[in-house]
Formats: sequence, structure tokens, C-alpha cells
Amino acid sequence: MVALTERTQKRLTIQITDIATDTTAVRSLDWDRDRFDIEFGLQNGTTYNSFLIRGEKTALVDTSHEKFRHLYLDAVKGLIDFQKIDYLIISHTEPDHSGLVKDVLQLAPEITVVGSKVAIQFLENLVHTPFKRLIVKNADKLDLGNGHELEFVIAPNLHWPDTIFTFDHKTKTLYTCDAFGLHYCSDDIFDENLEAISPDYQYYYECLMAPNARSVLSALKRMGELEKINMIATGHGPLLLHNVDELTGRYLTWSQTQTKAETTVGVFYVSEYGASDRLAAALLHGITKAGVAVEMVDLGSNPDLQELRELVSRVAGIVVGMPPVTNDANIQGALGTILGSAKEKQAIGIFETGGGNDEPTYPLLNKFRALGLHVAFPVIEIRETPTENTYKLCEEAGTDLAQWVTRDKSIKQMKSLGADLDKALGRISGGLYIITAKKNDVKSAMLASWVAQASFKPLGFSVAVAKDRAIESLMQVGDKFVLNVLEEGNYQGLMKHFLKRFAPGADRFEGVRTQPAQNGAPILADALAYMECEVTSRLDAVDHWIVYCTVYAGRVSKPEGLTAVHHRKVGNHY
Ligand code: FEO
Repeated sequence: MVALTERTQKRLTIQITDIATDTTAVRSLDWDRDRFDIEFGLQNGTTYNSFLIRGEKTALVDTSHEKFRHLYLDAVKGLIDFQKIDYLIISHTEPDHSGLVKDVLQLAPEITVVGSKVAIQFLENLVHTPFKRLIVKNADKLDLGNGHELEFVIAPNLHWPDTIFTFDHKTKTLYTCDAFGLHYCSDDIFDENLEAISPDYQYYYECLMAPNARSVLSALKRMGELEKINMIATGHGPLLLHNVDELTGRYLTWSQTQTKAETTVGVFYVSEYGASDRLAAALLHGITKAGVAVEMVDLGSNPDLQELRELVSRVAGIVVGMPPVTNDANIQGALGTILGSAKEKQAIGIFETGGGNDEPTYPLLNKFRALGLHVAFPVIEIRETPTENTYKLCEEAGTDLAQWVTRDKSIKQMKSLGADLDKALGRISGGLYIITAKKNDVKSAMLASWVAQASFKPLGFSVAVAKDRAIESLMQVGDKFVLNVLEEGNYQGLMKHFLKRFAPGADRFEGVRTQPAQNGAPILADALAYMECEVTSRLDAVDHWIVYCTVYAGRVSKPEGLTAVHHRKVGNHY
């Protein structure tokens, strides 16, 4: 089946194949997709893989991207009446796999959606209609009959916080969605051509998995507790059949290397209490985007106290999500161990969870403070249901903490370049701009100088954004923002304002005159010119993203005005 969409003329096809006993793969082949999410410049397209397992009961594992709506739904209809599917297993809720969940629920209203608690919460926001659900935890089982006993493996952060793997004991197939995948589109169902897929396999790991290397190691450990895995049915690219040990071994080696040298922060919280999972995930995102590794520990899962002690004494920072007031000796013991192993000069941050029965925060914070820890961000208090702004605040708090624990490294890097080279590089100059963005209810802004026109047709420019910038999350591919141009002789006030260090979650526009652009982002009233822009692609430049944007509207307030220019002394820091 081939369909060319009118707008893009890109090739989308569907491949249906039996891959194991009673098991059919429905692979959506996106041949020409040339970028993905945030960081990928794709060479070889991608696929979105979905699976149908037929025991006495039937389960569909994941769906597809919404661009495959008709192709995918027709393909599944050709295999089975939707109303006869009993379960829809959601490995995680990212739209490339869950883009058609709403459609499946319309076609099969009685279907039971199976997922982690966080996945089900995300889905509730996505579909807005009631649906039957089964929330699963690690090692939970679901028997489809005919030997197809499914066992679930919790694999948070691979690469979303809500991820689960599913293991079918009959076919010894592990369904992993993003993990062990690659963006590689071909007619090959399996990994027979190891040489051809290796570069993309590694690139995918580096972009998506390396930031969560410790989570990869935890998942590999859990996978080791299963029976011998015969096949890994991934959500992207070919399925792993011929090289399962080799390719899982690479994940192990890469993740071990990754975790050895890095600065690490421990995030300790009680999973599934209040909004702790999503709050912890937002903190994790903020920490990892500043290049610091995170190890998450669920205090409710009875962690090994010796391992906990070892972890706390080796991390550079500690984040605690408040547990509920409880007599649970395990949770109390774990908290006591964290306190007993913490040491001065570590960073500490505390967040409430909104569970309604949190331990009070300040007595705990004061104990850490008395031990000589540095409070990296004010206690995150949750008084009402968290919003997008709450999660953004958590992300920014995580970044602040990560920047504090890596401050020595940053200073060392600053001094490491040769003085002459520093000065020569500093002679590259740019204009002065303020980028302003609004995504849903979250607003942000940043002073930018590394802006350069990059194309005529379409009109476009590039801007370099440090990876740990708060606004970076609002500049993903497809996001819209405003580029405000500052005026020579009239920029000091705005520059000073936006150069300030803002507390996590602070309103960056307080006291600044603005009006909304058509895309919702604030236009600065005192800017010389503004442009409405859309992010088209992003290139990874190690500590920055080079963001290429197209411009579709704009105005100059003073036709004779000149752009403010930024002259620098050295080029190895801002
Ligand atoms: Fe392939 Fe995380 O979605």
C-alpha cells in the first residue's frame, strides 16, 4: 500500500508480517521523514511499529503516527475486527506511537487500555473520554491464553517517564517501543544487516538514551530477570532477532561508559504519590539538559539501603520529592539513610508532590542545611493541581541545580582555551536580540546574539541556543516564537532585564511592555523590529542547539533605526 500525501509528497507505506506464533507486526514505514522530535537529522527515514498478539484474547501493542491514520487503521481492520481486540498496550504515550489511540478507542470502545499509571494519566488528557484501563507495575502479568502470558517491565525514562516493556512468555519477544530502536526505514523486518544499521543504532542511542544511561542499566537489569529473550520488537526500525545479544550488549557498554565519568544527581521520591512522577520527570529533564546524569530512586520500592548509601555519597546533588506522612518503616529508613549519607558541598533541592499528605518540607531542608548542603532552589510547593507552568518551574529548578554542581567544570572550560584564540574568536560579533516564546501557558525569553540569516527561500535564520537554557524547551521543531531586534542606543534596559538570573518559574516579562504576536509570543514594545518565526530543524552542536527557523511575518518600528551590535572581548564564554 502506498500513499503520497498532497502537501509533502512523502512516501508512506504499510508492511504487515507475521513475526512469531500468533503475532503480526504492522509497520508504518515513513520513508522520507528527515527530522524527528528535537535532535535528529534523519538520514534513513523511520518506522512506527505496532503488533497484534492473538491468544484466546487479543492485544494490540502501540498504534502509529497520526499521519498513518487511514493506512494503519485499514491495515489492522484487514487483520481483525477492532471490536474483537481486548487490550491496547501503551508502551508510552508519545504521539508517534499513540497518535491513533483516540481512533482505536472510537472503533473499539470496550477495549482495555494497558499502561503505567503515568501513561494512563497522560492519555486521559489526550483523549478526554472515559475508557477502560489496566494500570500495570513491574512484573505484573496479563494472560492472553494459549500460552501468551504477558509480563510487564517498568522502564522509566526510555525515553519517556511512562515507559513499560512487555514480554510475551510464549514467543520470548520483548516489546520495547523506543528502547533498542533506530530511525531506519527499509523493507527489512529484522536486523540481518548489522553493518548497515549500526551507525543509526548508535546515533539513536546517543540522542535518546545516553542522557538516561542509568535508567538503561536499570532496564537491562530487569530484562536480565526474564527468560532468555528471543526477539526485541522495537517501535522504530527493524526488529532485533539475529543480533539480540550483540545489540543489547552495546547498550550495556555505552551506558556503563556514560555513567562512569559523569556528574550525577540523585532524585529520591515516592512514585505514584501525588504528581511525583511527572514532577520528578520534569526535574530530571532540567538536570539532564545541563549535561548532568540523574539516578532516580523510588523510596516506596524498598530500595537496598547499602546501595542507597553508596549512591548518596557519590552524587553531587540530591533532590527529594516529599513522601507522604507515613509509618512505613521502609520509607522512613530510606529517608534516614539519605540524611545519614549526605555530606557538605552537595546540592539539595526539595519538592512537594501535591499528594495531600506530604511530610513537612522545612524540617527536612533544615537538616540538610545543617549538614552543610547548598540549597540549589527554593522548596517547590504544590498547592493545587500542577500545570504546565509547574512542570516548567521544576525543569528550571533542575537546571539551576545542575549548573551549580558543574560550576567548577564550567570555569575550568572557560580557562582552557589559549588566550590568543579566545580573543580572536571574540572578534566574531553579532546583533542583540531577545527571543520570546509562548507554548500553551508557558512563556519564556532569552537574550540572543548568535543569530544569522540562513536562507532566502524560505526566509530563514539560525540561532544558537545553549542546551541548558529554559527557553530551549519552547523551541522544538514546529514551535513558534518571536525574534525581537534591539536598537542601537536603546537596548540597555531590555538587555539588563533579560540578562538577570531568574528564579525557577519566575515571570520574565514582569515590568516589560509587551503585546501579543499572532502566534501568542510577546512582542517587546521597545524593540526596533520583530519577526514571527517557526522552528524548522535543530542541529546538535555539543553544548548548543543550532536552531534553524523560518520567518513568516514581521515589522520594523523605526525604518531608519540600526540594530544594536554586541562586541566581545573573548569567545570562550558569553
Ligand atoms: Fe518513538 Fe518516544 O517515541
